[in-house]
Amino acid sequence: MGTVVDAAIKDANGSLPSHKKVTVVFVLGGPGSGKGTQCANIVEHFGYTHLSAGDLLRAEIKSGSENGTMIQNMIKEGKIVPSEVTIRLLQRAIQESGNDKFLIDGFPRNEENRAAFESVTGIVPEFVLFFDCSEEEMERRLLSRNQGREDDNIDTIRKRFKVFLESSLPVIDYYDSKGKVRKIDATKPIEEVFETVKALFTPLSDKVI
Ligand code: ADP
Ligand code: C5P
Ligand code: MG
Repeated sequence: MGTVVDAAIKDANGSLPSHKKVTVVFVLGGPGSGKGTQCANIVEHFGYTHLSAGDLLRAEIKSGSENGTMIQNMIKEGKIVPSEVTIRLLQRAIQESGNDKFLIDGFPRNEENRAAFESVTGIVPEFVLFFDCSEEEMERRLLSRNQGREDDNIDTIRKRFKVFLESSLPVIDYYDSKGKVRKIDATKPIEEVFETVKALFTPLSDKVI
């Protein structure tokens, strides 16, 4: 069920597009709203491949890439990395996965991300999951996440909240105007949030794992 997009996914070197049918769900929400946590549950139950834009950028820093220092500085300031960098990483991960269903987590983060991804890949999301959570709760979660992230400190967290309000919420509004947003109360406990999420994915699923 649902629309499956016949997307032209050009490879990272810009060679001829290979046509592949893919289903994409964008997973959005403020920092600490629980995107990564819920994506892990969705992967386990519904066989999607989870692509976190933030994780891909952090891996790019670790790999010693020439963009590493620029990415690291932007993450430290809570700023959004230029779309061409992030989209190249997403395209590569899509191609390497061998899967045809993807959760793209933390992307698109601004209008530039959204428009560039759409024009480069031709992919239109099946729907957009929006984890709605108060700043107070997100701040509490980020300060106790303990994953050694350089951006989980109070100064950077405040900057990330500002970027979310100014740049990311308008993207959610855009998809809302297209009837694509599925808003979820993410302040609830993890299991309760997943019950709501599950109900959205079950109709799309041919087999529940
Ligand atoms: P995001 O990917 O949106 O930044 P994470 O999934 O990494 O958020 O969650 C941030 C922190 O909050 C993690 O330590 C996670 O275990 C915790 N967390 C996630 N969802 C919930 C929830 N519903 N209730 C309480 N804590 C949560
Ligand atoms: O989603 P996550 O919290 O892992 O993102 C961490 C940081 O990675 C963001 O604050 C931002 O600096 C960077 N990022 C980005 N563009 C994206 C996703 C993340 O620049 N689309
Ligand atoms: Mg995350």
